[in-house]
Amino acid sequence: MQHMSNMLLIRVITMIDIRDHKIYFTGKESSYWMQVNVHRHLEQLYYGPRIPLQEVDVLENKNRVQFGSQVNIHEGYSLNTQLLEFSSAGKGDFRPVSIELESDDDSFVSDLRVSDVYINEKIDFPSEYFSPRINENTQQCVIELTDDYFPVLIKLFYTFYSEYDVIIRHTQLLNKSENEVIINKVMSTQLDLLESDYKVLSLNGSWGKEAQITIDDVNSGTLVHESLVGSSSALNNPGLLLFNDESAYGFNLMYSGNHYNSVTHHIDDSLRVMMGINPHQFKYHLQMDEVFNTPLALMTYSNQSRKGVTQNFHRFIRDMIIPEPPFEKPIVYNHWEGTFFDYDHKKLVSFATKAADLGMELFCIDDGWFGQRDDDFRSLGDYSINQKKFPQGIKHTIDKIKGLGLKVGIWVEPEMVSEDSDLYRTHPEWVVGRQDKPRIKGRNQWILDLCQVEVQDYIIQQVSHVIDNYGVDYIKWDMNRNHSDQYSNALKHQKEFDIRYQQGLVRVLREIFYSRPHIFLEMCSSGGNRFDLGMLAVAQQIWTSDNTDAMDRLRIQEGTAIFYPLSAISNHVSGRVNTQTIRHNPLSTRFNVAIFGGFGYELDLNICSKVELDEIRKQIEVAKSLRELIVYGDYQVLKSKLENRVVWQVKYKDEALVGLFQTINYGLQSKEKLRVKDLDPEKFYRVTSIDQALFIDRFGELLKHVTNLKVHPYGAIMHKYAQHKSMDDGKFEAISSGALLSNGILLNEIYMGTGYHPELRIWGDFGSTLYHIREIDYEA
Ligand code: GLA
Repeated sequence: MQHMSNMLLIRVITMIDIRDHKIYFTGKESSYWMQVNVHRHLEQLYYGPRIPLQEVDVLENKNRVQFGSQVNIHEGYSLNTQLLEFSSAGKGDFRPVSIELESDDDSFVSDLRVSDVYINEKIDFPSEYFSPRINENTQQCVIELTDDYFPVLIKLFYTFYSEYDVIIRHTQLLNKSENEVIINKVMSTQLDLLESDYKVLSLNGSWGKEAQITIDDVNSGTLVHESLVGSSSALNNPGLLLFNDESAYGFNLMYSGNHYNSVTHHIDDSLRVMMGINPHQFKYHLQMDEVFNTPLALMTYSNQSRKGVTQNFHRFIRDMIIPEPPFEKPIVYNHWEGTFFDYDHKKLVSFATKAADLGMELFCIDDGWFGQRDDDFRSLGDYSINQKKFPQGIKHTIDKIKGLGLKVGIWVEPEMVSEDSDLYRTHPEWVVGRQDKPRIKGRNQWILDLCQVEVQDYIIQQVSHVIDNYGVDYIKWDMNRNHSDQYSNALKHQKEFDIRYQQGLVRVLREIFYSRPHIFLEMCSSGGNRFDLGMLAVAQQIWTSDNTDAMDRLRIQEGTAIFYPLSAISNHVSGRVNTQTIRHNPLSTRFNVAIFGGFGYELDLNICSKVELDEIRKQIEVAKSLRELIVYGDYQVLKSKLENRVVWQVKYKDEALVGLFQTINYGLQSKEKLRVKDLDPEKFYRVTSIDQALFIDRFGELLKHVTNLKVHPYGAIMHKYAQHKSMDDGKFEAISSGALLSNGILLNEIYMGTGYHPELRIWGDFGSTLYHIREIDYEA
């Protein structure tokens, strides 16, 4: 172990270097430095672009004189003017602090000083939460703090992934006395930044409107983003980003319960960022010799601003957090929006036959297969098969679908129970909330108390049985309501509810899925109500939103992709008229948006026309050819001078994909360039539009302007014709250098009501085109 005592001897520059009371983390592009100062406080020295170690003296905090009403630990030295790594209450730091303890007389003053600093021989992550896949090639620095007022040993863990420029922090408390210590607040990370010229980006929203990007200035006070709903929530995602034009800091928490992010502007113009379990509705009673661990918090820095943080997070999460998928990311068919609860064996097999023929790879049987589940009022908690829908049992249907060459998945919502269920009739005491008080419902259901081990065991057993007995390959794990009436029969202290529930959930998921690595797991919580790193440590992807409208999805997916890799973002092409918005997006655009992530279809295949089915077949071929690029590529959002554009790019090895999307169409639009970034300026590339069909019935009475068909534009002949024939839309091909593509090449015009040409972009409202860019050998 490399301890502070022998720090002076160490001269080798490793990723983590400890010497002269200073701790240096050197990443690929970033440096993170701390120092244990003469008062044994842990100071933040530097977090930014990678710099040589010689710079250290320049960075020392200047503490020359005291001023005004300041309270001082030592002459001229006040905690209120220090940049600190972890701070406590009552010793002059008047910003929000990272730890608040309480003793039996409610005392809360605490004084933390460093007692040791070392590099752990073996990476140590708390077992009660999910953690990244252990990477033996990394290093973990531990800083121990003791407190004059409380008999606790606090360990700050810094696990450093230099190749990714990612630091993972967590905090551990050990009660070293016989008396209980109450933890009212303990953060996973705190970062004090010297300057405040950063904007704060967070994701906020609601059901059907997840991950809306919000950008705040913090010029005074504290900005808080938090969740109290029992999941990370669509209201405030745990991801947080601070950025200006040159640089950005990213943060995220590996926790699916109530989280808390705060950014405080300090009077000296510094900023304090904190992230951890929400201290509201939280109080933990730490017993003698007991250890409390916080969840892990990720931090990254990039000098490429937002794009850099996104790419750092994407690479890290893909390589270190998301479990290896058991098979290539499948093209999924889910019947939910096509049927809701109204389906049976016959209907599913008819869909599966079409899905298999079109080239889809996995068929998910969604809600409604169990108990009397023909609506959302009953049967959650029960796992008997719905006899009406599956008179020969569900295994019969699954085998039939598998016989068509598809993998099969099944929907479960194991954390919930309906009042009308055999489970509730047998175990009313398993429901969250006091039995002597009315408990409120959400989507007509209650929550099962995952703080109780019996409940955990029941879920483990039932879901395992479904997987093993029916031979499914994929699980969609849903959770459709926020928490209320938080009370568990298993707990002595009810403010431990959220964390105990989460730990129960982690145990359940681990037991089921760690021993079944052949299962592809998709999480869902009424869409993206639990889109977080806690879930991604066990699942390959998360259903991003119940809103499948391509235009709304542009915002939802763009927000989600700031913090989470495309491979985790599950998207489906849904029906002609969108269920949530009644909008008619072209099939091409529904595909062009959904392809940026885990991809599938969710519509009634039996009502699709021939042209639609032909188009879907082609789309699936394209999706398969782009799968690797989407999963492993570097994603970024490109700027456009047109305000009705959204532009996304993914680049992988020698190819790239650019999606150009139009929201509302305007008459006579300006000339437009296609820009592709981060290509080799010296190389040449072939740019090709991905073929897409233009459906003739989009034109109505404009038909005479675009074809020479002389028929009633809304009549029966036209209707029949449009079912069978389509036209080309926006064909484009060019060869260009990486240098020119970065500057932009001119695209073809947009349709302006004056005639048809296969190379015109006939977009109208909500139109779009995908451009594929591939390096070629080309003699200029
Ligand atoms: C939630 C999910 C949907 C679907 C329904 C089924 O709303 O987000 O995708 O599975 O439940 O009830």
